[in-house]
Amino acid sequence: MASVVVVGAQWGDEGKGKIVDLLTRYADYVVRFQGGNNAGHTLVVDGRTYIFHIIPSGILYENKTCVIGNGVIIDPGVLLDEIAGLGEQGISVSRRSLLISSNAHLIMPYHRRLDQAREEALARENKIGTTGRGIGPCYMDKVGRVGMKVGDLLDPGLFKDKLQAAVDEKNFILTRQFGGEPLDISSILEQFAGFAEQLAPLIGNVSVELDQARRQGKHILFEGAQGTQLDIDHGTYPFVTSSNTIAGNACIGAGFGPAHISEVIGILKAYTTRVGEGPFPTELPEGDVIGDALQSKGHEYGATTGRRRRCGWFDAVVANDAVRLNGLTGFAVTKLDVLSGLKKLRIATSYEVADTTYRHMPENIRLARLARPVYEEMAGWDTEITAVRAYEDLPSAARDYLRRLEDLTGVAPILVSVGPDREETLLLRNPFAA
Ligand code: GDP
Ligand code: IMO
Ligand code: MG
Repeated sequence: MASVVVVGAQWGDEGKGKIVDLLTRYADYVVRFQGGNNAGHTLVVDGRTYIFHIIPSGILYENKTCVIGNGVIIDPGVLLDEIAGLGEQGISVSRRSLLISSNAHLIMPYHRRLDQAREEALARENKIGTTGRGIGPCYMDKVGRVGMKVGDLLDPGLFKDKLQAAVDEKNFILTRQFGGEPLDISSILEQFAGFAEQLAPLIGNVSVELDQARRQGKHILFEGAQGTQLDIDHGTYPFVTSSNTIAGNACIGAGFGPAHISEVIGILKAYTTRVGEGPFPTELPEGDVIGDALQSKGHEYGATTGRRRRCGWFDAVVANDAVRLNGLTGFAVTKLDVLSGLKKLRIATSYEVADTTYRHMPENIRLARLARPVYEEMAGWDTEITAVRAYEDLPSAARDYLRRLEDLTGVAPILVSVGPDREETLLLRNPFAA
């Protein structure tokens, strides 16, 4: 049996959905362990595009079990819409294909309202640029021990009591602090009774099921959301999401012991993007010819909010942070095809802040904003590479680029992605075949 964790190595949108979908071929279970429907994971299979926000990206396969762990926060309306969307495409979701942890927390209507109201109230320079999906407020309630859990849906008396207390408090904040309208508890109760009925058959104990699977020699794939620099502890705080996005959280967010993890794969875009606010040292400003080329050729628009993603050069400082924080055993390098046609490529190898050289992201947000990348330059390649299926067939400059990423990080690619489709991939080493 092997248990492989896949995480984003940068600021999210590295192509995790595609890679998880691809690796699911070798796995029995696919497990989301953190985040919520702030995630947008895109898969292209046989020319057809699927975007998943909450369901694990393994759902397109038959005879695999997708799991939503306790560390995930679930907006039940969004989850049920996603299940219905799959149904319309002939993919039925049952307890055999989807298990939801009773310990996962629920994103409630007041979480979305508070997320949006808080963002609106912040001064321009302090805005996080959240997805507005209620992520921060939901995790705040979880840590504040006043959260609503998936398991509460199965106990209507408990659910009502907890909801009453929560709505009383939230209405006070929404009306008094933000001057908004109060929420009506009876309509939430009615709506959630419907959600409870539909979700009940899918709810269970994730930790127990994964333990049994492991003992039976099953392969388990953990699917991270967001990316290392968005981690609540280790990212560019406060311009981060509200969960731990790094590999250690796969264990906490699914109730799985760390000694059972066999590999940690970092998904690494061949350049860098970021959506939302916050420091981004290698960013190319809007209007820059190369930045705009990356943005349009890479279709860099958020899969969740449709926002334009900021684009920039590859950043080895960020990649090395990911190696250290996640204990990466391999990279999956994505979107290499987007670099085709650029004459020169730049790679940031360190940052200068005043007189100090940094080889990791400065912890202080003011310093992170001031960081000036130190670049080295490499030759690009002219030919398109989306049709390439063997490493040796890549242009030599593309191979040099990959080798340089490996030299700078000490971690080798296990996979190179040359297009969005499942098939547009060069698998160099299968992490489940250890
Ligand atoms: P995720 O959040 O990490 O799953 O990434 P997203 O799905 O938000 O964004 C990645 C985008 O890049 C999606 O539109 C993918 O279809 C696309 N994509 C993934 N790998 C490749 C690749 O190798 N080349 C190109 N051109 N597109 C890719
Ligand atoms: P995937 O899984 C990229 C960013 C938001 C914002 C910050 C906080 O598709 O890679 P939140 O709504 O989480 O409170 O927003 O985090 N963010 C993402 N950026 N990809 C994601 O997910 C993201 N999820 C959140 O843009 O800057
Ligand atoms: Mg995404």
